[in-house]
Amino acid sequence: MVTFFLIFLLAIGTQGQTSDDVSWAKRVDTGSQVVTTMQFYFHDTLSGSNPSAIQVAQPQSGSNSLGGFGNLMMVDDPLTEGPDKNSKLIGHARGMYGQAARNELGLIMVLNYGFTDGIYKDSTFSLLSLNPAMQTVREMTIVGGTGLFRLARGYALAQTYSINSSGDAVVGYNVTISTYI
Ligand SMILES: *[C@@H]1O[C@H](CO)[C@@H](O)[C@H](O)[C@H]1NC(C)=O
Ligand SMILES: *[C@@H]1O[C@H](CO)[C@@H](O)[C@H](O)[C@H]1NC(C)=O
Repeated sequence: MVTFFLIFLLAIGTQGQTSDDVSWAKRVDTGSQVVTTMQFYFHDTLSGSNPSAIQVAQPQSGSNSLGGFGNLMMVDDPLTEGPDKNSKLIGHARGMYGQAARNELGLIMVLNYGFTDGIYKDSTFSLLSLNPAMQTVREMTIVGGTGLFRLARGYALAQTYSINSSGDAVVGYNVTISTYI
């Protein structure tokens, strides 16, 4: 009877439990799954001598501008806690995006988001989605992950925080992921 009561208490204790050691993410164990919500900023720098996004392919004919169909970029973009580039670095988004729509801005995003901070160090998730970049808020699909994000499914809501005439952009991300661990 006592044992039963203890087990019952332990079970209650883990329901809805949160474990945070960073300010930019929150994990809630609902019992059947863990829901992680995150808020961070993505810095895509095209200009200067050390850009974080570089063009690696372009169409043989047609527009070579970034919005031209067929242009492909390789990126290693820092992720920070706040919109300021000098705020705490929490990881990197690495991979590619390319202009995949002929008559509008539609970027195909193939990116690995890898984290370096707190309990999320060495955990990653993969985003594979079309980014309708002209929409104020872009919803994108998260298809999997490693570490704390094993068996992840989720979505990211991205909103441009700032962009200048060089195309350097700071994008705010709100991410929701569910996992079983
Ligand atoms: C855009 O911002 C970057 C800093 O992120 C700066 O180096 C660059 O000169 C800016 N470009 C313009 C045209 O203001
Ligand atoms: C992201 O979350 C913050 C804090 O809850 C909220 O203020 C902001 O509107 C959200 N942005 C998007 C694009 O959902």
